[in-house]
Amino acid sequence: MADNLNVFQQAIQNFLGPIVPFLKDSSISEILINGPNEIFIEIDGKLQKTTSSFADEDALRAAVNNIAQSVGRRIDTESPRLDARLPDGSRIAAVIPPCARNGTCVSIRKFTQNQISFKDYVKMGAISVDAAQFMDICMFLGKNVIVSGGTGSGKTTLLGILCSRIPKGQRLLVIEDSSELSIKYDHVVNFETRMADQQGQGEVSMKDLLKSALRLRPDRIIVGEVRAAEAMELINAMNTGHKGCLGTVHANSPQDAVVRLESLAQSGDSKISEKALRHQVGSAIDIIIQVSRYSDGSRRVGSIAEIRGYSENGTYEVHPIYEIPRLVRGSDGKLQGRLEATGEIPSFMQEIIDNNLPFPIAKFQKSTAA
Ligand SMILES: Nc1ncnc2c1ncn2[C@@H]1O[C@H](COP(=O)(O)OP(=O)(O)O)[C@@H](O)[C@H]1O
Ligand SMILES: [Mg+2]
Repeated sequence: MADNLNVFQQAIQNFLGPIVPFLKDSSISEILINGPNEIFIEIDGKLQKTTSSFADEDALRAAVNNIAQSVGRRIDTESPRLDARLPDGSRIAAVIPPCARNGTCVSIRKFTQNQISFKDYVKMGAISVDAAQFMDICMFLGKNVIVSGGTGSGKTTLLGILCSRIPKGQRLLVIEDSSELSIKYDHVVNFETRMADQQGQGEVSMKDLLKSALRLRPDRIIVGEVRAAEAMELINAMNTGHKGCLGTVHANSPQDAVVRLESLAQSGDSKISEKALRHQVGSAIDIIIQVSRYSDGSRRVGSIAEIRGYSENGTYEVHPIYEIPRLVRGSDGKLQGRLEATGEIPSFMQEIIDNNLPFPIAKFQKSTAA
């Protein structure tokens, strides 16, 4: 690992000249290169164009080739796309011409060392205090929770925070495509998928790892991002007594998220009927937390919904428990708005009471204040 890091750092020094300052600057979260003459950076969730550039397309290509080599991958006319995790935890994606029309296109999502804690998350206003407590209760009671959101909306961050709220004494099995979650917890087993080699051999998929995880006495199964047929295994696990499974999915609303999970589950080779699958998805998922990146650059929880099954009239029963009723832009350009109770009482209210959890039913009532 240390060796890898050295090779990688050498490659950076030698070839990435124009972007080295951005890599070093911890306030920059993303670097986007659209051909040699255009480099954008993201600061505080906002994109801005820089005046930096590479000498020419060849210099940029050499940089990308070297990064690829330093992580044992290649990018060339035969495989013009690269998607890799760098030794420092950052993610890189690249596409080269002719697929990339304005020259080699690269995105580097930097790994952030300073992790956001549960407390910070509340303090930053990404979630309200009540909703955070409710999330905590869901973790305590072992609800199956899916975090839904777009790319870069903060799904993985929230998933990490949720994991840190799992009551002590459990065994966590974490499965990821490429390892990014770092979970502060006593007993964690991490699995990472493997791509097929150049001969197309040796692939280990999320689905394979999920099957293994189920045999390794998990208390909690955590899937970094559900993006393919492993959705079926996850749904099955949730429905067969594995409480407290967690994962993220790429979707724009809780309603979309359940439909997305359904279609991902269907994409595998399972022979289950559509109707049966919908009932399974509906009963597997307890809670969906929607996160979004807003136009002011902020990332926050936009809604928390309970899924109460699939109804006879052909829809998922999605009941928002917290929502942001409206967002108003302040004079500083920031969007003001709070996550508020919708008035829906969770179906597991009795469980909350029976466990003496300090969360009175009144907290779910809609606030009457303007
Ligand atoms: N609530 C938040 N406020 C500010 N920054 C956040 C918040 N949540 C996540 N981030 C930052 O946003 C970036 C993308 O987050 P990540 O969780 O990786 O998104 P996703 O998994 O949806 O792609 C990271 O740099 C992360 O530190
Ligand atoms: Mg993620």
